[in-house]
Amino acid sequence: MKKYILLLIISISFVAKGFAEEGMWLPQLLQTLNEKQMKKMGMKISAADIYSISKGSLKDAIVSFGGFCTAEVISDQGLLLTNHHCGFDAIQNHSSLQNNYIRDGFWAYNKGQELTNAGLFATFIIRIDDVTATVLNGVTNNLTEKERQSAIDKNIATLRGNVKKESYQDVLIRPFFEANKYYLFVTETYRDVRLVGAPPSSIGNYGKDTDNWMWPRHTGDFSMFRIYAGKDNKPAPYSADNVPYKPKRALNISLDGVKEGDFTMVFGFPGRTNEYLHSSAIEQTVKISDPAKIGIRTKALGILDGFMRKDEGIKIQYAAKYASISNAWKKWQGEVLGLTKTNAVAKRKEYESNFEKIVLSKPEYNMAYIELLKNLKQAYTDIEPYGYARDYYNEIVPKVELWGIAGDMNSLVTAYAKDETAYTKRKTEVLTKLEESFKEYNAGVDQKLFDALMEMYIADQKAEFISPAFNTMFAEKGKSITALSEAVYSQTSFSSLDKIKKLLAGSTAEVIAAIKADIAGQLYTDIFKTYVSNVSPKLNALQSDINRLQRIYMQAQMDVFSTKAFYPDANSTLRVTYGNVKTYQPRDGVKYDLQTYMEGVMEKYVPGDYEFDLPKKMIDLYNKKDFGRWGVNGRQPVCFIAANHTTGGNSGSPALNADGNLVGLNFDRVWEGTMSDINYDPSICRNIMVDIRYVMFIVDKFAEAKNLIAEMKFVSKTGKK
Ligand code: ARG
Ligand code: GLU
Repeated sequence: MKKYILLLIISISFVAKGFAEEGMWLPQLLQTLNEKQMKKMGMKISAADIYSISKGSLKDAIVSFGGFCTAEVISDQGLLLTNHHCGFDAIQNHSSLQNNYIRDGFWAYNKGQELTNAGLFATFIIRIDDVTATVLNGVTNNLTEKERQSAIDKNIATLRGNVKKESYQDVLIRPFFEANKYYLFVTETYRDVRLVGAPPSSIGNYGKDTDNWMWPRHTGDFSMFRIYAGKDNKPAPYSADNVPYKPKRALNISLDGVKEGDFTMVFGFPGRTNEYLHSSAIEQTVKISDPAKIGIRTKALGILDGFMRKDEGIKIQYAAKYASISNAWKKWQGEVLGLTKTNAVAKRKEYESNFEKIVLSKPEYNMAYIELLKNLKQAYTDIEPYGYARDYYNEIVPKVELWGIAGDMNSLVTAYAKDETAYTKRKTEVLTKLEESFKEYNAGVDQKLFDALMEMYIADQKAEFISPAFNTMFAEKGKSITALSEAVYSQTSFSSLDKIKKLLAGSTAEVIAAIKADIAGQLYTDIFKTYVSNVSPKLNALQSDINRLQRIYMQAQMDVFSTKAFYPDANSTLRVTYGNVKTYQPRDGVKYDLQTYMEGVMEKYVPGDYEFDLPKKMIDLYNKKDFGRWGVNGRQPVCFIAANHTTGGNSGSPALNADGNLVGLNFDRVWEGTMSDINYDPSICRNIMVDIRYVMFIVDKFAEAKNLIAEMKFVSKTGKK
């Protein structure tokens, strides 16, 4: 008996997936769940120094930046630090041929020079409360999913009305652990956020797509902003009279750097992970979903690259689209590689069989637990063809921009069906939108994308998911996709802004008739309709069933492995992840170091290159070894890696050392480790950070923005000045 218990304990601690570094933890639960382990791993501060509602804590220096990235306050005048790729939209919006801030960088040498950004915001988290009991009040297992959701919605509405908060604060209620738990966030959002500084792209995005998701890395991926507040320091809409925000807390900047084994933590807003999936879902990702999406993007990137290399104008027009298509394309390849290499599916199956053994050994477990894995497996088998159709639709249709334009034009017909006022309003909206999007559009490029991607749409999908109208026309054209696209692009009025403007100049009746008669409009209508009637209903029903099963499975895992601490999947809420600075071995015989230096920047330098060019001043500073207080032993540190569990949305998050001081700025993960969204594996999962000393070197020596350096507070344990 004793032996059996011991075995059980060993097997539980072995199977309960979880490693010291894994997890995106809730800041308000650190004290209960993590503090002990964090201290064991080297942390010197306490959980209450990280999150407290009664005194200033590190969380008061962290903001959600525009809802898609993280930023942190680094001075008592509201100065914010985030990534270059997070601030890029703002930098681009202020750029012109005369003031090319993308190419040359931008620096405000006094507050009067800082630039306003409509729509950009910074959100602080004031307080986090567990509201599970209130939200799930009256929710029982007998309810259908629909009844369950409506009961929850009602509870949330009541809860919202009763929350204690100031008038300038907002409330957010979000599900966690697959909707087994609910937390409420009281937030403060500042909407006057101004651009302060950004290095040239040749520093901020050094290595571009070639180096993206890769280690070793040499990118200075940072930019700076400032929060402005009303005179009372409270959120206020933009006004010239607003003043720099006085934070409850600003981060101190460490001059000490990191060495192997050092404790680090990353504090920010990770977007989305799926860590508790059934093994068959992981298998589907590796075998079906990722390869399908990668295949489509490989085709699209090949076409874009061909045009961009030959034509400077097209290169500029399509640069942002190329980067965004390439970003996920590369990440998924790393994900497949990592999941395969670490035998993630087999490991998850082993976890499941242990789960089953324990469930069967304890009759008191809910009987539903016994059927769970079988039902999940079946549900994933059932959803597979619909998931594939969804991936195909989502990957192909938006990349053929003619379809998007057709969708906008068709929306005029819908608006007209309401009334003339709706039509007039919609017409202005559509024109404004198209004026913008046509700047980054070339009909020749779009037609080639059409050929390649619509050919896949026809060839790779089951007949029931293909638009009948498109199929008929394909047959009429002798099954030649180029003959089909020739006909479409020569007949449609939607492939040029001039033609669209001419069309829209007609009387309302003429416009509506012309849109209805347009070949692209008609084809798109049928493509959309086919998806909405043959894919969506089944897909949504199956997904809702999977959500229900995953919710029960999540609770079941927490019951069965009751000694293990669980963290909820990322959902764009504030989290803490922690780990040690660590090297890794991507493949046999290769070991990656943990820190890069400016020598590596110079090794990659290719004069005049699209990805690896450098400003002359950087080369001069390097040659003179003019690193100031930011170098060590005549070398300038650039980037480093650690085993922090991060994901998209963690971009711009601070990397803090054992004392809670800023040592780095998170901006990426290593290629082999991008699978951490599905399965964290400590052997190859690493996050990539810019060394804070590289950031300061660029602000101080390259930009000579002494005004900014003067605002910040620097600390050192080794007496570095
Ligand atoms: N891979 C990083 C992320 O997912 C950085 C992306 C921006 N850089 C780039 N070269 N596209 O957002
Ligand atoms: N670059 C990502 C972002 O924009 C962070 C990298 C990751 O996915 O870990 O959030």
